Amino acid sequence: MATIVGAVATSHIPAIGRAIERKLQGEPYWKPFFDGYGPVRDWIREVQPDVAVVIYNDHGLNFFLDKMPTFAVGAAPQYHNADEGWGLIESLIAEEFDITMCQEMLVDHGFTVPMSLLWPGSEARPVRTVPICINTVQFPYPSPARCLKLGRAIARAVESFEDDSRVLIAGTGGLSHQLEGTRAGFINPDFDRLCMSKIVGEPETLAAYSTRDLIRFCGSQGVEFLNWLVMRGAVPGAVVEKHRNYHVPISNTAGATMVLATLNERVGPTLN
Ligand code: DHB
Ligand code: FE
Repeated sequence: MATIVGAVATSHIPAIGRAIERKLQGEPYWKPFFDGYGPVRDWIREVQPDVAVVIYNDHGLNFFLDKMPTFAVGAAPQYHNADEGWGLIESLIAEEFDITMCQEMLVDHGFTVPMSLLWPGSEARPVRTVPICINTVQFPYPSPARCLKLGRAIARAVESFEDDSRVLIAGTGGLSHQLEGTRAGFINPDFDRLCMSKIVGEPETLAAYSTRDLIRFCGSQGVEFLNWLVMRGAVPGAVVEKHRNYHVPISNTAGATMVLATLNERVGPTLN
């Protein structure tokens, strides 16, 4: 049975990619943000995942307003899924989530920036990846409750895999931000901190928000927090918060990362 070793949540702001490219990690502006990732990478090394299910949102690169799936799972061979995503898709559809199957799927910074943060350097990443795209850009969005439920269905699907994969769940985006309109620049640290606390042991309280309230509290792009809710749902049972970092501002956003380990995680081979 595949094992879910835990989850990492992380911002996916494009400016992070530029900072990595320009090696600005030690600059005063960026240091408090990047310093938050050392413990994340230490934990990943410890739990040794070989698959990362990455829950993110496309920002208009692959899906545009003409075609906008609520939930989509990448099944492209270039992601090197052993089953090209079919097992996961079958299981989710059996659980009444109407997944769009994508044999080709471009991924944008919502996927690539977190990959660079979690596995820095240009060498091949030591994980196979399954991108799961959540619509957070075009109304109507899936509700917070639906996103938590989708995560739980993902966990059941992963745990039905018969191999011994060690699966990391990643949720990207957020935290609070709004890039356009009269509230452009809006950030809500109190709400972000509430979300980071509640997502550990009480995700249902966050899932109870209406979509409109979520947008009111965390901004029209902060609704990317839906990706975090899917992530949390995808870690079965109780979790242990191993690490968190929160820093405002990074670009227009409250930059945040968390590590949520499954309580019964198997000890990685390096620790034996
Ligand atoms: C920013 C944040 C995002 O989540 C994004 O997708 C693009 C830009 C920003 O803070 O600039
Ligand atoms: Fe974004």
